[in-house]
Amino acid sequence: MKVLLTGGTGYIGSHTAVALLEAGHEVLLADNLSNSKAEVVARIKAVTGRQAEFHQVDLCNYDDLLALFKRAGAEAVIHFAGFKAVGESVAEPLRYYQNNLVSSMNLCRALLATGMDKLVFSSSATVYGEPESVPISETAPALDASSPYGRTKLFIERILEDLARAKPALKVALLRYFNPAGAHASGMLGEDPRGVPNNLLPYVCQVAVGRRERLTIFGDDYPTRDGTCIRDYIHVMDLAAGHEAALDYLQGAKGLEVFNLGTGEGHTVLELVKTFEEANQVVISRELGARRPGDVPASYTDPAKARQALKWRAERSLTDICQDAWRWQRQNPEGYKDS
Ligand code: NAD
Ligand code: UFG
Repeated sequence: MKVLLTGGTGYIGSHTAVALLEAGHEVLLADNLSNSKAEVVARIKAVTGRQAEFHQVDLCNYDDLLALFKRAGAEAVIHFAGFKAVGESVAEPLRYYQNNLVSSMNLCRALLATGMDKLVFSSSATVYGEPESVPISETAPALDASSPYGRTKLFIERILEDLARAKPALKVALLRYFNPAGAHASGMLGEDPRGVPNNLLPYVCQVAVGRRERLTIFGDDYPTRDGTCIRDYIHVMDLAAGHEAALDYLQGAKGLEVFNLGTGEGHTVLELVKTFEEANQVVISRELGARRPGDVPASYTDPAKARQALKWRAERSLTDICQDAWRWQRQNPEGYKDS
């Protein structure tokens, strides 16, 4: 199948491109490089031996997007593009609503204008807010999220639900990711955050490689087994395989379906740090800090629906995640080259 990946040079998009190319799909990457670098395209080629076609385009420009849709003639689109930093979204909510909502609206319009009928959307477990209980299944209420970023995901989900209701020929998979982490096992592709990393594992990697002095653990007084927050860390290549499974699923599907993508297992912050140290034989300097506003004590998925309907499950362990993330960081201490 020919698949268009918006945000395709980003962290999850680039790993999904590898999985799709290796499965024999044709891949087009559309990205404005606001949070990624063009070197990724060459890295994808180096890993797979196959070329993904790259188009530098801003999804907020409808005419450019429509022209790309018309030229590309893709059968399906996976919509990764968007801003994703929670803290930044609190400080600059309008920039987040503008970019994430306008780009998604334009994508929907281009889809209708060209008759493309398959869409996979990158949503987030953040739409569950503070869950009433864990594990979280897709039937748990998704009523509010704790940040403007999370609300953009909720709003886009609602827009897609309305659209799927109005246009029964559309097939849509909303994928709610838990905590994507790790890197391609080659060490050629990985997560390359700009500035200070917001997420735990990239921060740990930068401490290990000497770019940051020490990790601050955000609170150890949560009601969990060691007092630190529990998350469901899913290897980015498992997540990539989840997208491939979602595309297969959409071939025979109707309407819109929601899937949680996670492992079903939760690990505390301290467990992740210790696993990283043991797996890689490094020491992570750390200190205890205050709770980070908006963090929920525990979040992990009930993986049953994705297993049953997508015939997919996460295969890689937390140790694999830590080893692959460290290989990527060690081989690319400053990330990708500037474009
Ligand atoms: P990323 O920032 O690495 O990739 C997103 C890409 O979108 C970037 O390459 C950026 O340049 C591009 N982009 C942003 N706005 C654009 C626009 N207007 N036009 C064209 N390109 C644009 O992020 P990621 O971690 O790969 O996340 C991919 C998707 O998954 C995002 O929608 C994100 O919100 C969602 N998600 C990520 C996580 C996570 O922890 N990484 C968790 C849940 C959901
Ligand atoms: N943490 C630290 N120190 C750090 C960074 C994180 O202790 O320097 C802790 C956090 O407090 C949290 C855990 O590590 O307890 C995981 O934090 P992340 O920022 O890595 O992940 P979150 O679960 O907060 O957020 C992630 C994505 C969001 C997404 C959400 C969905 O970043 O985009 O998962 O569940 F919305």
